[in-house]
Amino acid sequence: MEQLQQIFAEKFGEKGTGSYFAPGRINLIGEHTDYNGGYVFPASITIGTYGVARKRADKQIRLYSENFPEKGIITFSLDDLEYRKEDDWTNYPKGVIRYLKAAGHAIDSGIEIAFYGNIPNGAGLSSSASIELLTGVILDDLFGLAIERLELILTGKKVENEFIGVNSGIMDQFAIGMGKKDHALLLDTNTLAYDLVPAEFGDYVVAIMNTNKRRELADSKYNERRGECEEALKRLQTKLKIQSLGELDEATFFAYTSLIEDPTLIKRAKHAVTENQRTLKAKAALEAGDLESFGHLLDASHASLRDDYEVTGIELDTLVAAAQEQPAVLGARMTGAGFGGCAIALVKKSEWEAFATAVKESYREKIGYETDIYQASIDDGARKL
Ligand code: GLA
Repeated sequence: MEQLQQIFAEKFGEKGTGSYFAPGRINLIGEHTDYNGGYVFPASITIGTYGVARKRADKQIRLYSENFPEKGIITFSLDDLEYRKEDDWTNYPKGVIRYLKAAGHAIDSGIEIAFYGNIPNGAGLSSSASIELLTGVILDDLFGLAIERLELILTGKKVENEFIGVNSGIMDQFAIGMGKKDHALLLDTNTLAYDLVPAEFGDYVVAIMNTNKRRELADSKYNERRGECEEALKRLQTKLKIQSLGELDEATFFAYTSLIEDPTLIKRAKHAVTENQRTLKAKAALEAGDLESFGHLLDASHASLRDDYEVTGIELDTLVAAAQEQPAVLGARMTGAGFGGCAIALVKKSEWEAFATAVKESYREKIGYETDIYQASIDDGARKL
């Protein structure tokens, strides 16, 4: 943080007036359910995005990221908040400024922000939602706007959907906006009601394992999967009175798959329905301290994402299989959108070293490059420091 203060002063000539942080997130289970009206079970983590900021007297927005120093300071006017490809990563904060201003919040002068994120790039730990919530918290503070947290969350999602063009759900922004130290958040994406569940893993810890394969296909395939689920839902609605796949229990779903007809669409919807049930079971297992069952549900989630939803790929499958083979592991799965990015595993603390060494070796041997493995720690959501 001190370093970022210094960077701010170097770039903008004076000291910033506030320091802020927004975390990244992992998702324990409940993957690709958030745009299907289902449950998700994410947690905000200690890595994320830092910001130092200050108001300006004029209408200029000037943004710098220590992650992209070669791009220098990117500048635009508060009166011209159009999406521009050449504005690169700053389209995320720009979108947030645009929509909060359009919602009537009194953002009436320019600002300067220096960003630094320690979420590995393309890791699927929601660096973009982290930047969005960070920007929201900064604007809220600098202009004294007193914006409800839920509005910042929904604004972040709107930026992804309408400004950037990724049809993502509410999970990432919600986890980053509402996260709480040492808790996971069971969110009903249909009603936005949520439950904070103590993330108590006893002798175990959650490992984050990065495939170091960027999720290149993620955006286009993501929108494609979402479209497939919508089509499956439409076909089910010819006989069933439902608004989303999240409303279906497994028995009802399997009784009506013939309505969907297309085998690919059936598989996609099957994932959405079964993953939703697994998520509820996983929450109950965690609350009961039944980590064995929790681990099995992680494994089953990965299998469903691999075989039915087809969003894993060779890197994630290899990494997850390598983890699952370790005696210290109760379960493992990909986390986030898929197609690369990160996986998580529930690992016995006392056997951490042996676990990490074995998984790294196995991954290197089969994929040809390294995986990075570290312990997740769960911390509070976006905030002023
Ligand atoms: C991405 C999206 C989320 C969610 C996950 C998959 O992280 O941003 O909304 O759909 O993928 O569970």
